Amino acid sequence: MSEAAFINGRFLPLAQALVSIEDRGFQFGDGVYEVIRTYRGRPFELQAHLARLNRSAEALGLCQPYAFEQWRDYISEGLRLAAFPEAKIYIQVTRGAAPRDHAYVPNLEPTVVMTVRELHPMPINVHTAGVEAITVNDIRWGRCDIKSINLLANVLARQQAKLSGVFEAIMVRDGEVTEGSVSNVVIVDNGALVTAPEGPRILSGVTREVVLALAKRQGLDIQERYPSQAQLYAASEVFLTGTTVEVLPVVRIDGRSIGGGEPGPVTRSLAKRFLEKIG
Ligand code: PDD
Repeated sequence: MSEAAFINGRFLPLAQALVSIEDRGFQFGDGVYEVIRTYRGRPFELQAHLARLNRSAEALGLCQPYAFEQWRDYISEGLRLAAFPEAKIYIQVTRGAAPRDHAYVPNLEPTVVMTVRELHPMPINVHTAGVEAITVNDIRWGRCDIKSINLLANVLARQQAKLSGVFEAIMVRDGEVTEGSVSNVVIVDNGALVTAPEGPRILSGVTREVVLALAKRQGLDIQERYPSQAQLYAASEVFLTGTTVEVLPVVRIDGRSIGGGEPGPVTRSLAKRFLEKIG
């Protein structure tokens, strides 16, 4: 078992997987990415992730050269080579390498990179106890729906969470809750799920979509609107969704207890349904 790396159609050991310093991903953050995880060795919601990769690439006028079937085959090969029980697949497509100039020439050959690494599931007690979060100003650009490798604002937010000794930074723009630095945020307000609407202010999470569909099937009221920061604090429950966090209860925000200060019934039942879906 070893980490597998891939550059432009070739698998090679991670240490040998090198990209030019002239790559526009390195120079400008000019690229897009996806993170996909496996359950029981199989990529979760592969189609949705690859569809989002295409949407992100198209939005930037960037060439994503592989069709779904090619990606599926490359990912299977990566999983076979790495042979981990569960894996985290990272895909990045940049506009390619060229002498540094903000404007780009057309027809650059894109750089397509993939790594397959071992996924260490989050300890079960983190899920059962819930996590703490802080709020931070959402200082990101106006196209957060594009899964761009420009993650500086998210990096700074997550680092602030880490330095504060909490798990996640929940971003707030003009008093409205957008999302977490690596996750989407859902609050439970009078029994209804309230979460930021899809659009340029959030990344449309694949997990968010799956969880909202499960909630709908459960008959829960879903309101896609921005919770205010006051509503976040006053929520009976708050949880995060994401590839790496799954359905993760948040029990304290900025030092204030959420609801009873422990994971609530709506979050627990959705987490259970999510587990059933992946199991
Ligand atoms: N991030 N919002 C942001 C800002 C994210 O970075 C992510 C995931 C999500 C959740 O999306 P999904 O359910 O499709 O994973 C929401 C990945 C895991 C990352 O950057 O590592």
